[in-house]
Order: sequence, then C-alpha cells, then structure tokens
Amino acid sequence: MTTSIHPLGGALVLENVGTLVRVRQLRSEDLPRIPGLMRRVYAPPQYGPEAVWSEHSLSRHLEIYPQGQFVAVTSEGRLAGTATGMRVSLTRALGPHTWHGITARGTLESHDPQGKAFYGVNIAVDPELQGLGIGRLLYRARLRVGQEEGCLAFVAGARLAGYHRHRAMAPEEYLGEVCAGRIYDPTLSKQLALGFIVRGLLRDYAPDPQTGGHAALIYRAL
Ligand SMILES: CC(C)(COP(=O)(O)OP(=O)(O)OC[C@H]1O[C@@H](n2cnc3c(N)ncnc32)[C@H](O)[C@@H]1OP(=O)(O)O)[C@@H](O)C(=O)NCCC(=O)NCCS
Repeated sequence: MTTSIHPLGGALVLENVGTLVRVRQLRSEDLPRIPGLMRRVYAPPQYGPEAVWSEHSLSRHLEIYPQGQFVAVTSEGRLAGTATGMRVSLTRALGPHTWHGITARGTLESHDPQGKAFYGVNIAVDPELQGLGIGRLLYRARLRVGQEEGCLAFVAGARLAGYHRHRAMAPEEYLGEVCAGRIYDPTLSKQLALGFIVRGLLRDYAPDPQTGGHAALIYRAL
C-alpha cells in the first residue's frame, strides 16, 4: 500500500487509508482490544504468554506507570498500535539484561519511578498499517514523556526480526551488517531510521525463533 503521510502535530493523516491516526495515553476502555492486536503482530506468539498480555496484566501496567503506556487510534476508533514503557536505572538498562529480567516477566513490577532510563518494553503496530509512520508517532510520544519526566535516555532491546534469514552469520556480524545498511531488518532498520543508536548485542534477550533470541541494545539520549 502506498500512502503519503503528513505530520500534523501529534497525529498523522493517512491519505490512502483516508483516516487520521492519533497517539494518546492508554485508557482502561482500550484494554479488551490489545490482546487481539498483539496476536496479529506476533502470530504465532513468539515470546510466550507475556507478549500477549491479558487485560488484567495491562490494567496492572496502567496502575504501575500510566504515563508510559500509549495507543495509536484512528479517527474511526480502530486500534492501530500500542507501546508499553517503564523506567529503570540507566545502569540496569545499559548493562547486559534479558526482557524477562528487566520487565519482571512483562509485569512491570520492576518499574523504578526514579529510574533515569525510559525503557521500551514493547511496541507493536497493526501489520496492515506498518510502514506508514505510526511507529514514529508512538516513539515520539515515549521520547516526549521520558524527557518531561527527567529521564536521560530512551533504551530498549530491539528484536533482530530478520536474523532467521541469515543464521549462517553470528548475531554480532548480522547486527553489523544491519547497522551498515547492507541488510534490511524489519524491526531494527526502522529504529535506525528513527535515529536510535546501537550500543551492542543483547544475547538471549527473549526466546524467539525469528531472532534466535537476540536483540540490539538501542539508545537515544533525551
Ligand atoms: C517496529 C514497528 C513498531 C515500527 O512501526 P511502523 O509503524 O511500521 O514504523 P514507521 O512506519 O513509523 O517507520 C519508521 C521508520 O522506518 C523506515 N521504514 C518504514 N518502513 C520501511 C521499509 N519498508 N523499508 C525501509 N525503511 C522503512 C522509515 O524511514 C520510517 O521513518 P520515517 O518516518 O522517517 O519515514 C512495527 O514495524 C512493528 O509493529 N513490528 C512488529 C513488532 C516488533 O517487532 N516490535 C518491535 C519490538 S523491539
């Protein structure tokens, strides 16, 4: 689908789709629709049950850190994307870690309100609407909140979603090729295009047959 996109403050006009997409904080009435979106994005589920959060887990996220939870919604009310975030110390975020460890198995119970890193736990855009700028809009909202709250950096583990096509390479080599722009990775290449820098490889970050479990540690100073 070719669609021209015009930035419009905190929203995007998707001309070919004929709709406006806005990003706002997650609300309790959004919760029933998120598990379905996650299943479409991660079908078959790649990360185990934590990736397809139940409404109960999502409502805990809202209690723990409402400012860090976002949705992208079209003007017709369709859920286009979701982003889950928390705060942790910079030392913890920048050191070796796993997704399960740093997020307390996706519960966000490890959220540290004094943490100086805004940590990207998950971001997912409806597969039918990917590549149209909605991810950028969600990242922008996270960066803004991180900045407003006095965080010094945005940090996340970026799935090496295309690694399964290059298994003959060591993950470090694959990461180098993606960073050099010689291999396109469906996730990391987008994050690089958005201005994130790679600080290293997170081996065995999260069990996932697509990525071999590996992720790139991505960073952006705030
Ligand atoms: C990663 C993800 C959230 C990005 O969302 P998105 O809406 O597709 O991203 P955007 O359309 O905003 O694209 C971001 C940038 O990537 C680039 N990009 C997008 N599609 C591209 C493509 N097909 N080829 C090359 N670059 C592309 C663009 O440069 C864009 O930046 P721009 O705004 O300057 O044009 C989305 O693809 C997704 O949900 N993936 C599956 C789940 C996942 O892996 N999540 C990440 C967990 S770490």
